[in-house]
Amino acid sequence: MCGIVGVVGSADALPRIYDGLKRLEYRGYDSAGIAMAIPGAGVEVRKAQGKLSALADLLPGFPAGLTVGIGHTRWATHGRPTDLNAHPQVDCSGTLAAVHNGIIENWREVREELEAAGHRFRSETDTEVLLHLVEAYGGTRDLLPAVTRAVGRLTGAYAFLILSAAEPEHLIAVRRASPLVIGVGEHENYLGSDVSAFLPYTRRALVLNDGELAVVGKEDIALYRLEEERLVPLHREPFQVTWTVQQAERGGYPHFMLKEIMEQPEVWGDCLLGRTAAGAVRWEELGLDPAEAAGWPRIQMVAAGTAYHAGLLGRAWMEGLARVPVDVDLSSEFRYRQPLLQPGTPVWAISQSGETADTLASLRLARELGAPTYAVVNVVGSTIAREADRVAYTRAGPEIAVASTKAYTTQLLTLLLAALGLAGSRGRPRPDLVEELAALPRLGREFLPRASEWARARAGELAAARDVFFIGRGLDYALAMEGQLKLKEISYLHAEAYAAGELKHGTLALIEEGVPVIALATQPELVEKTASNIEEVQARGAQVWVIAGAGLAPHLPAAEVLSLPALPPLLAPFLAAPVLQLLAYWTAVVRGENVDQPRNLAKSVTVE
Ligand code: F6R
Repeated sequence: MCGIVGVVGSADALPRIYDGLKRLEYRGYDSAGIAMAIPGAGVEVRKAQGKLSALADLLPGFPAGLTVGIGHTRWATHGRPTDLNAHPQVDCSGTLAAVHNGIIENWREVREELEAAGHRFRSETDTEVLLHLVEAYGGTRDLLPAVTRAVGRLTGAYAFLILSAAEPEHLIAVRRASPLVIGVGEHENYLGSDVSAFLPYTRRALVLNDGELAVVGKEDIALYRLEEERLVPLHREPFQVTWTVQQAERGGYPHFMLKEIMEQPEVWGDCLLGRTAAGAVRWEELGLDPAEAAGWPRIQMVAAGTAYHAGLLGRAWMEGLARVPVDVDLSSEFRYRQPLLQPGTPVWAISQSGETADTLASLRLARELGAPTYAVVNVVGSTIAREADRVAYTRAGPEIAVASTKAYTTQLLTLLLAALGLAGSRGRPRPDLVEELAALPRLGREFLPRASEWARARAGELAAARDVFFIGRGLDYALAMEGQLKLKEISYLHAEAYAAGELKHGTLALIEEGVPVIALATQPELVEKTASNIEEVQARGAQVWVIAGAGLAPHLPAAEVLSLPALPPLLAPFLAAPVLQLLAYWTAVVRGENVDQPRNLAKSVTVE
């Protein structure tokens, strides 16, 4: 996720901004930049693709003693990671600069309108529309009303800091959905996307809430609530930050993995932004073309590890909803199996990093075979994203823990959106499901804390087990495969996933007194079948925990059950997957393992 820093009033503003950016490096970024107010000369910007050291080389160009400025580390979402797309962005006149976190939903239409009115855009970013809008509404002449009007035009998620040559002693901060915190100092104030940006300088902080704007000077902080285009003054007392720097980086969580699990509801919101309208999927926002998709006889997916498990669920949705046949291959197998692709079959590569060697090789093979290619990728500008004909970004933000969590569920969401889009174009629209997607972030926020407690309470027993089995049918089998992988990779326990109906064909022999079996039973049409498989393992002494769909518990044999909140069964994986991630997480914690960096594993597997 991008990082934001602002400093007002300190004689050391420039080194402090750079230092703040260094402390936000943990969030992941691909370019960085700083804009400073130069008294009498306006606003000057330095920015560079790559690591902060590249930006550091440009900073000696700034005069000494500057007191107000903004900085940014960018994780690309709209537009590649280049110098031009790095923030701060500026307006046509170069008198306004802004940094932005989040995604502006309606940037395309606003940009077209502004370009038609003569505004010159320099970058491919969604951010730039804010600056040209402010300019169009009066610019630096009447800055606050212009900013208020401009943000009123924008939909989506954002945290902005705006620096103006006309009012160089103040920064304007606006927040909607993306976090922004003010650090309250002595004769100087700070802004940050989280408190790590300013912790060494002040521990007094003020959180800006959604729909609020702040004008921050050296001695003064004015807070407002945005109501339509009106600013209603607010008062809020600062609080004392007690976190250590390390805790702050992890949003107060002990590990990145837990932070990333718990922030899934937020990134689902990001992933959905702008991609649905009036009960339908907006194809262009997924990088897809309905005319081209109409000719697909089937789809071939390729992926590795967790991304492969996402592909399995993608297949179920695609076949069930759109009735398009789908094959899913492990990319390490696909590349060597001399695949036969029916003409016109697109190859979809699913990858968090966009760099996985086998998935990239499969994509290249597909191109050699003349297949159209499509990438479902998290990292913008990665090799797979660049080489595919078309790409959909999953918008999970940087994933730091080695075990994939939020990248997985945003892969699921992107694949489900594609399935719903395809279903609509093939005469099988599901506006009901498309509408229900909007409720996922709220359901997740409500459910995840309860799920975490449930998983934590079971971790002691799991941690002491030798073997753990995960069972399920249909969508639940695909989920079970991901559940066992998570447990293996961070807790080092032996775990296996089985299609529940397969147990009696061999694996049942391994079930004995006390063996933990985690059963998934989220699909009403399969619950009776899974119930009898649960009875089979219980009869052999297994200790069974069930993750069940809402209202399905009465159909299940007596066992420890965690019921999901009510939601359409096809969406159950979004809430069941975090439970599996949390079971793995808490088990690894009890076992004292290195959760974020498990042994023998790397985040990005760029070798065969
Ligand atoms: C497991 C995990 C791996 C990756 C796999 C593919 O938690 O992270 O199994 O899913 O290495 O990586 P990407 O998605 O980057 O292609």
